[in-house]
Amino acid sequence: MRWYGVFTISAIWATLLSSALSTFADEAYNIDFHHALLGIPQPRNTFFHRPDASANAALLYTLSDKAILGAVNPRDGSLVWRQTLAGQAQDNLTDGYLVAGEGDGKITTAFGETVAAWDAGDGRLIWSREIEENSKAIGLQAVPVLGISTDGAVQDVVLLTQSRTAGGGYTVSRLGGDSSADRWHYNDVDSRLDATVSIATSPKHVFYISTSSGIISGQKTKVVVIDITNGKPVKDYSVSLDAEAVSYDLRQVAASCSGSPFLITSDKPYKTLKFNLLGNTKVSTIMLEDKGEDIVSVQVHSACGANAAAHFLVHVSTLSKNWAEIYHIDTAKGDVIKAYSLPAIQESSTFAGSSNANSVFFTRVTDTQVSVHSSESHGNLGRWPRNEIGVGYRSSSKPVYAAAEVASREGTSTAVRVVVTSPEGSWYLIRNGDTQWSRPEMLAYTTVATWSDDIQADSLIQELETEISVDPATAYINRIYRHAQELMSLPHYLMELPQRILSPTADEISTRQTLVGSKSIILATSLRSLFSLSGVDGSIQWHADLSKSLISDVRSLTSHEGRVTLYTAQGSIVVVNATNGVLIEQKSGTIASSQLIELPGSPASTTIKVNEDGIPSYASDLAPSVPAEGNAIMTLGKDGEVLGWTVGSTITQTWSFKPKNARVISITSRPAHDPIASIGKVLGDRSVLYKYVSPNLALLTTLSTTTLKESLTIYLIDAITGTVLHSSTHFGILPCSPISAVLSENWLAYTFTSSDPETSAISAQLIISELYESSIPNDRGLLSARTNFSSFDPDAVHRPHVISQAYTLTEPIQNLTVTQTAQGITNRQLLAYLPHSNAIAAIPMHVLNARRPVDRDPNTGEAEEGLFRYQPTLESDPKFFLSHAREVVGIKQILTAPTLLESTSMIFAFGHDIFGTQVAPSQTFDVLGKSFKRIQLILTVVALYVGVIVIRPLVRRKVVERGWL
Ligand SMILES: *[C@@H]1O[C@H](CO)[C@@H](O)[C@H](O)[C@H]1NC(C)=O
Ligand SMILES: *[C@@H]1O[C@H](CO)[C@@H](O)[C@H](O)[C@H]1NC(C)=O
Ligand SMILES: *[C@@H]1O[C@H](CO)[C@@H](O)[C@H](O)[C@H]1NC(C)=O
Ligand SMILES: *[C@@H]1O[C@H](CO)[C@@H](O)[C@H](O)[C@H]1NC(C)=O
Repeated sequence: MRWYGVFTISAIWATLLSSALSTFADEAYNIDFHHALLGIPQPRNTFFHRPDASANAALLYTLSDKAILGAVNPRDGSLVWRQTLAGQAQDNLTDGYLVAGEGDGKITTAFGETVAAWDAGDGRLIWSREIEENSKAIGLQAVPVLGISTDGAVQDVVLLTQSRTAGGGYTVSRLGGDSSADRWHYNDVDSRLDATVSIATSPKHVFYISTSSGIISGQKTKVVVIDITNGKPVKDYSVSLDAEAVSYDLRQVAASCSGSPFLITSDKPYKTLKFNLLGNTKVSTIMLEDKGEDIVSVQVHSACGANAAAHFLVHVSTLSKNWAEIYHIDTAKGDVIKAYSLPAIQESSTFAGSSNANSVFFTRVTDTQVSVHSSESHGNLGRWPRNEIGVGYRSSSKPVYAAAEVASREGTSTAVRVVVTSPEGSWYLIRNGDTQWSRPEMLAYTTVATWSDDIQADSLIQELETEISVDPATAYINRIYRHAQELMSLPHYLMELPQRILSPTADEISTRQTLVGSKSIILATSLRSLFSLSGVDGSIQWHADLSKSLISDVRSLTSHEGRVTLYTAQGSIVVVNATNGVLIEQKSGTIASSQLIELPGSPASTTIKVNEDGIPSYASDLAPSVPAEGNAIMTLGKDGEVLGWTVGSTITQTWSFKPKNARVISITSRPAHDPIASIGKVLGDRSVLYKYVSPNLALLTTLSTTTLKESLTIYLIDAITGTVLHSSTHFGILPCSPISAVLSENWLAYTFTSSDPETSAISAQLIISELYESSIPNDRGLLSARTNFSSFDPDAVHRPHVISQAYTLTEPIQNLTVTQTAQGITNRQLLAYLPHSNAIAAIPMHVLNARRPVDRDPNTGEAEEGLFRYQPTLESDPKFFLSHAREVVGIKQILTAPTLLESTSMIFAFGHDIFGTQVAPSQTFDVLGKSFKRIQLILTVVALYVGVIVIRPLVRRKVVERGWL
């Protein structure tokens, strides 16, 4: 009997333990989100392509205007792989070229001075080579192969380069697809540097086309036909064409990736087109249909593929309607014949040409439908109404560019996938009319971002506030009504209760999320759009197109009381509703401001504008509000001096400071929200080291301008008086290396990369300095005996006791920030971006403690305090990486914000990729963790209850018996 009981209990224990262990899993990938972006796809470098001959599904390849090459799975829009061609995301790339081989499993890029071949399946680099010095790539074409090769042959490419030297000239070379070795060269030294030069290929020839526009002679286009096998010019001829290129990528050559490339141009008012089939000297004129309205744009679309039929489509738009005309090329005679037209409609359309074996298809995408037409004849192969399913964010309608893939089974069924770029930069795929996914590529252009307040306040809090504000009788009725409502959901709640107790994990994340609170992020892109992102999962909540309201870049973005205010470099203001992005008001500005500073004030915060000369003034464009007294700000004057100002009812300059032979590169202040929970640090022996705390500290980072070896000097300044409290100098700074500084609580940290003067070894350093009132514990320094003093008193200057420590990092870090929590009780973490590892790291402050004992082990007091022996190098521990295994590319700024939970800080990083997460530097001490044993707790309560019931009669009997004694 006894044994049986023991066994049962241990069995229960075993079950409980195992369930507790099995539910404990890492929170990575649950509380964080990452948008791995490419940038806006460039039209000529975006296509569907089978990674190799044996693959049965195509991937979507693109080279974006940020010089990022990537492959996307067309089924769900997920990134298969990506490569940054320039090492990091570029800003505005125009000269990048991407071509795909036919079934040889590689794709080739030319960008700047580099040509590279990549494995189409996994993005591995196969080979890369530098172009001759002082030259850059200006064109790349694949050498067409007729029939898909399955024998493992690799496809060669033809490269066009431009020399940057004075003698100049252009070179066409054929590079071997397997090794990058040159097969042949063709040089053109005659063409002027300002000529427009391009290349096209056909199975037998390479066409080298150069156009120079003389003012008198007009436009002359010269075509050299080169034998593709040996590079010898076969013939050359000149044609006279119109000035404007009308192929969709705005080059004179159209269909350059098909078997029969041609030149096509036009001139306003676009009544006719001039056409020349390359290799044929004949120039034909195409008359466009006259529909009684001025034509405003003409675009030519064609399909790729050496075997594809030689057909093309001309997309013609007038102000009110648009249509398409389809032409067939007579390749023998060099003529064009009009085949048919697609009807004129009022909705805007986007066309895409594609080929499947020999057939060519044209896909038309409008706001309401998608249709597919064969290039052969009139009549559509398929028509689908458009349907937005499963895509949270609907992009604005008029697409700027589309690429299509058509699957057609011998006259029976046709399916089409078309990938579309919208004007604000969203990239989405429509399959038979249904939008399958969208990628928010425009977020890669984020320049400014800010946290928005919690928009949806808790409904219970709202109700309670209403009850307080109304008279007691109404409040009473209201409350009874509310309780009655709650009673209605009780049965449901009771039914769910066992489920909630037994499997709490499913709900864990959402429960935690309600505790943390919902915050969203407002961000502005350089494409003149404003977005609101959920801080929880990074989904887009709304989008506001400000291209009409904004003419210059957004300088500052603030969010208060449901209004987002945006200032531009020219001083104009736009205010939108933070809930839905609806424009509330806008004012055009007159004075350009170089910087905007936000200060607390009443009723709302005040914005201070700083002009180019560093003179601050109130921004009185919106409802006036008065800043709180006693704020100090620092600005950079026109001669590079630092100016200190006090801001109250007036703005007064109080001091100026000019570092000798140095220029100020940044001014850093403490974060606006930086509460200090404790003014001292308790040491192991229970004595206290008082922190040097001042809200007016600022950090100046200056770089020397005189010496050859650059030096970096950091000044810690009291912003009220301009007194330098501390400074330190470091030599041998590498030019252009990232320098970043952060100031919080009673410490400052900065990082730089320097070379050792003796060994010239290059290393990245992180310096941490902690500020205390005195070096002696339990001492508050000179001013401790005074009950009141003014900062301006001559004897009030009280310099902090500074303890500094330097750490050598394994790689440079940049954009330092510090985590923020509501009360500042939780430990802080130093956040930084690691550009070499493409990671975001959070370094716990106790690791960086400046008081770690050097060259000895900690004594008992120090060990009790948590200090451990100092090590000069700080290994980048994978535990520090908030981004885990993910590659977060091109981060420029990291934002942090407190949450409703003291333990948790929210993090959002932007620049190119978007990354967001939550950190709990001291663990989630205020939440029950996943390992909390609910069942055990309930069983204990039940067991106690049963025990009480069982024992109660015994006890009662005992009490009664004792009474009788
Ligand atoms: C990119 O460059 C083109 C021309 O080089 C220019 O027209 C365009 O405005 C630039 N875009 C941005 C975002 O800088
Ligand atoms: C923003 O829009 C919401 C919903 O339309 C509205 O309730 C709220 O009052 C608006 N906020 C402001 C500041 O206009
Ligand atoms: C982040 O660091 C990079 C590299 O030092 C710098 O160019 C960029 O301006 C920094 N971003 C901010 C917001 O300071
Ligand atoms: C501060 O000290 C000055 C003299 O230094 C004295 O006149 C003043 O009353 C003091 N103020 C308070 C609030 O103690």
